[in-house]
This record gives sequence, structure tokens and C-alpha cells, in this order.
Amino acid sequence: MKALHRDFGVEIDGIDLRDAATHYARIREAFEEHSVLLFRNQRLDDEVHLALGRLFGVIEIRQKNPQEHEARMSMVSNRRNDGRVLSEQDSRLMHLKANQLWHTDSTFLPAPALANILAARKLPTSGGETEFVSTRAAWRDLPDVTRTRVRNVVLRHRYTHSRQAVSPVAAALDEVTMWPETTWRAVWPNPVNGMEALYIASHVCGVVGMGEREGRQLIDELVAFTTEPGRIYSHQWSSGDVIIWDERATMHRGRPWPYDQERTLASICITASEVDGLGAVRPVPAA
Ligand code: OGA
Ligand code: MN
Repeated sequence: MKALHRDFGVEIDGIDLRDAATHYARIREAFEEHSVLLFRNQRLDDEVHLALGRLFGVIEIRQKNPQEHEARMSMVSNRRNDGRVLSEQDSRLMHLKANQLWHTDSTFLPAPALANILAARKLPTSGGETEFVSTRAAWRDLPDVTRTRVRNVVLRHRYTHSRQAVSPVAAALDEVTMWPETTWRAVWPNPVNGMEALYIASHVCGVVGMGEREGRQLIDELVAFTTEPGRIYSHQWSSGDVIIWDERATMHRGRPWPYDQERTLASICITASEVDGLGAVRPVPAA
């Protein structure tokens, strides 16, 4: 195992993810400990990718009644069905641009993501990196006054908020407005090793019980601290790369690339459940 960053992340050799079931205990242990796992030279087709996801839990389905739908592979891609690339004005490209804001996935859903498994499919000749930071390391390093201030904070998350930052058109899409606000505690303790992490994302639109200006200031301060340049691992994709990350202890963002070139990554999220410590970030209901 080779570290990706002094604080987090490892490259794991010697595992063919087509045999992930055999190695799952080791993979899961590394996931809990290191937050970002890189596997190179993999050959994941959709079925194998989904099977790998199911080892971690239930594959996320972004529908109101997920039980009525079947899990399927989704593509983070600027490729249209006809094989051409999306125009710069297309609202689907706006979603990809919103991925360039620091975030953790699906905090706006009734149950957020535990993990994302991203696999390179088609890469541009330059750019298009995915960057990660450890919100566990950031939480550890925050000044005590800030930790005390944030420890019991509850954050408000809304999908429209992150889309609005990029495009009012993307923010107005039904698939975005359909999700009502969610609230999660700002610190997620890992249920296996007790390590706490800041739980924050581009979807955060406010702080419960705080005025808008004060809340915004606090959120911006936390994101700025967490994403200082020295805290970032920037992943330059190669063909065959697969990355699995812990959404409870990281933030990530995509980087721009020449949009006249295709960039396609296969992606699935796994929904967090009680065994992943979800109960610990649920706000305590008012008495
Ligand atoms: C994602 C994501 C960033 C990227 O798949 O959730 O944010 O680099 N991707 O495409
Ligand atoms: Mn994402």
C-alpha cells in the first residue's frame, strides 16, 4: 500500500476488483482507515462494478420511491447519446460543472451516500482531475475554539443550493427541486474506529439556529480551512483506475478539462445506513 497524501488515501496493489468479494474484509478495513482507495489497471464492466458496490451496501437510486426502481450504472460524462459532446450551455454540463465545487455526495437525499466508486472509462488529453481532501484531518487540525463552536452544529443541505451556484437553469430542474431540505450534524464519527470528521458539502445552505450571514461565514470558513492547497490529493486519471472513497470523511471536486473532448467516468454511490453510523449525524429532534 502506498500513501496518496500524508493525511489520507492509499493505492492498493495486488487486488483484481473482479474478485472483490474475496478481498472485501481487507478493502473495507482500508476504506474505514484511509478514506480514499485507488486501484489501478482494473477491468470493471457494469455488472462487476455494481457487484462491488453491493458489497458496501445498497446502491443509491435517486428516485422518490427507490424500491420501485432497479439500481443501474450511472455515467459522469459529457457524452450525449448520439456520441457527440454536450455543448457548454447544456444543463447536463452544468451538473458536471457543479461537481467542481467541493462536496460530498448526496447529502440532500433522505439518506446520504456512504461511498462512491468511480472508474475511468474515457479520458480527455488534459485536465479532468478529481481532487480529494480529508475532512477527518481537517477536523483534527481545526483550532479548539472552532471545534467547540461546530461540535453540536446542525447543517442544512439542499440540492438547489449547489446548482444555483453554477446555473439557475440547472437549479430549476425537477430532478433538483424535488428534494426538500435535509439536516445533518456537522461531525460524523466513524462507528468502527471512532475517528470524527467534518461533514460538509457544497449543498450546505445554512446552519440551523444561525442567521444567514453568520451561517454563511461559518460554512465558508470551514470549507476554506478544509480545502487549503496542502490538504488536497489531486488524482490525474489513467485508464483502468478505480477510486472508492468514504463520503463521511472527505470532500471531492472535479476539475475542468477541454469540453470539446469526451470525459466519462462510471459512477455508483452506496447509500449510508445505520451500521455506517448514519444515526450519529441525524439531528436530535427538538424536545
Ligand atoms: C462524482 C463527482 C467529480 C469528477 O462522481 O460524484 O463529483 O471528477 N465527480 O467527475
Ligand atoms: Mn460528487
